[in-house]
Amino acid sequence: MQIEFFDKIYDSWKPKQLEKFEQLLPILKPFIRSSHSLLDLGIGRAWFESFLLDRSIRLSRIVGADINQFLVSPRLSWVQYEFSKNFQTQEKFDWVVCFDSLHLLQDKNVLKFLKPKGIALISLPVSLMREIPKFENSEILHEGFIGVQEKDYFQLLQSK
Ligand SMILES: C[S@@+](CC[C@H](N)C(=O)[O-])C[C@H]1O[C@@H](n2cnc3c(N)ncnc32)[C@H](O)[C@@H]1O
Repeated sequence: MQIEFFDKIYDSWKPKQLEKFEQLLPILKPFIRSSHSLLDLGIGRAWFESFLLDRSIRLSRIVGADINQFLVSPRLSWVQYEFSKNFQTQEKFDWVVCFDSLHLLQDKNVLKFLKPKGIALISLPVSLMREIPKFENSEILHEGFIGVQEKDYFQLLQSK
């Protein structure tokens, strides 16, 4: 009963996230290639990855890290899930995305997971935008505000 209640609350947030993804898509599309790999830190229910597929955007590899095995449900067959409170890997990705999760990560140095010229997408509620550190060795390609029902500040960064 408690879990059902939580599921309902969590899922009621989905339309707010989809509005943000919709606004970001024209900004992201020119940079996305089907050969790209993506790491989603704090993937939750993988709404971003489902959104990409709904728009016929396929990537070669998607890894989703999260702390909570119970929240991450249902799982997508095309995502490799990793559960950890401090996910680490030597693998380098073309993309790293953090939607409303950077403030929850123990290690905020998320650009270390990128290949050279890889792209990071960070989006946080405006009230938390100061949690985004100044990343060294990177360039901000785009930044701004997204969302209708819930306003986020986002940065699209490219590693050098
Ligand atoms: C606000 S939700 C955002 C989920 C997803 N990014 C989205 O936009 O729908 C935050 C997510 O971060 C996860 N999380 C919290 N602490 C974490 C940590 N230390 N490492 C990885 N994920 C974490 C939560 O379990 C949750 O799935």
